[in-house]
Amino acid sequence: MKQKEILLFGASGQIGRNLIRKLTNNNYKITAVTRNIHQAGYILKTQANPGYLKLVEIKKFDPETIANLIKNSSICINLIGILFETKKNQFRTIHTDLPNLLSQLANKYKLKKLIHLSALGIESAKDSNYALSKIEGEKKIKENFSKYIILKPSIVYSVDDNFTTNFMSLLSKFPLMPLYYNGKTKFKPIHVIDLVEIIYDMIENKNEKLILECIGPEEFTFKKILQILLSSIDKKRILLPLPLPLAKLSAKILQLFPSPLLTEDQLRLLKYDNCESGIYKNNFDLGYNTNKKFENEIYKYSFNWKTGGQYSKQNNLEGN
Ligand SMILES: NC(=O)c1ccc[n+]([C@@H]2O[C@H](COP(=O)([O-])OP(=O)(O)OC[C@H]3O[C@@H](n4cnc5c(N)ncnc54)[C@H](OP(=O)(O)O)[C@@H]3O)[C@@H](O)[C@H]2O)c1
Repeated sequence: MKQKEILLFGASGQIGRNLIRKLTNNNYKITAVTRNIHQAGYILKTQANPGYLKLVEIKKFDPETIANLIKNSSICINLIGILFETKKNQFRTIHTDLPNLLSQLANKYKLKKLIHLSALGIESAKDSNYALSKIEGEKKIKENFSKYIILKPSIVYSVDDNFTTNFMSLLSKFPLMPLYYNGKTKFKPIHVIDLVEIIYDMIENKNEKLILECIGPEEFTFKKILQILLSSIDKKRILLPLPLPLAKLSAKILQLFPSPLLTEDQLRLLKYDNCESGIYKNNFDLGYNTNKKFENEIYKYSFNWKTGGQYSKQNNLEGN
């Protein structure tokens, strides 16, 4: 029976959880790194059969600790990413310094592969600190280690995402939703299962020095995405274009919250389309024909946000 050792950073996230299931079902042994075993342990442990998943708690990116983990692995996958900064968690530390360290160690301990998740649509976003830190991280990896695979997905969606589910919660509760940049920013959402299939193939097959943009089969404006979500949860809401000065002011206020809905940096990033850049190959160029359709997939879980659904403002229990 084939068993390979994979070291996975950011395993408890949306992509990580789905990837663990795919890999362990195919006899890979995973060492999953998390910051808090008590918070993430129960989410992670249920994703794999006994014996296929080991959990390691790391509070900070200490080079010696990470070196010891890398030494015992053949493939390292980095899924750690943040969408907003806090005093403790800066874009630079997470998106640049960590990939730098991982790729240096990957080189030192002669790993077979380092697979790193970056992001799509960041090349032109020169005014976004998120984008700059992700690009700098890609650069460090390319400088340090030749057997890299950098994947750059558009928005990744599924029943356990932070995107469609959050928007359906907001849309089911509030009468209106602001549209930034008139809702014209374009996306090519990719389903998490399609992305996991691509990552799996990257692990199984020989792909080195590869930067690949990962997109779904359809292109939507942000407004269209909201309209699809609304129609899927049977709600009618006002989608209100917000003038830029007002949008900036709202981001300034919202970013003061511990888990902000919008930050100034995210608002700047939202200006740029999240579609293939033409600079790199995308999954379709390599024959990964992602075919899950956004509307069909949303329909499979949106019932939770419909009236009477588990996450709707008024669920069945309240109604009784
Ligand atoms: N989801 C998308 O739509 C999307 C789109 C484009 C690119 N990406 C990139 O793909 C990667 C994975 O995405 P995802 O959606 O699965 O991410 P996610 O759900 O946000 O989870 C990422 C994981 O990173 C770890 N993490 C977060 N902050 C950390 C910190 N300060 N220090 C150490 N670990 C930290 C967390 O693990 P623990 O809490 O267990 O430590 C978390 O589970 C990220 O790099 C992201 O930028 C995602």
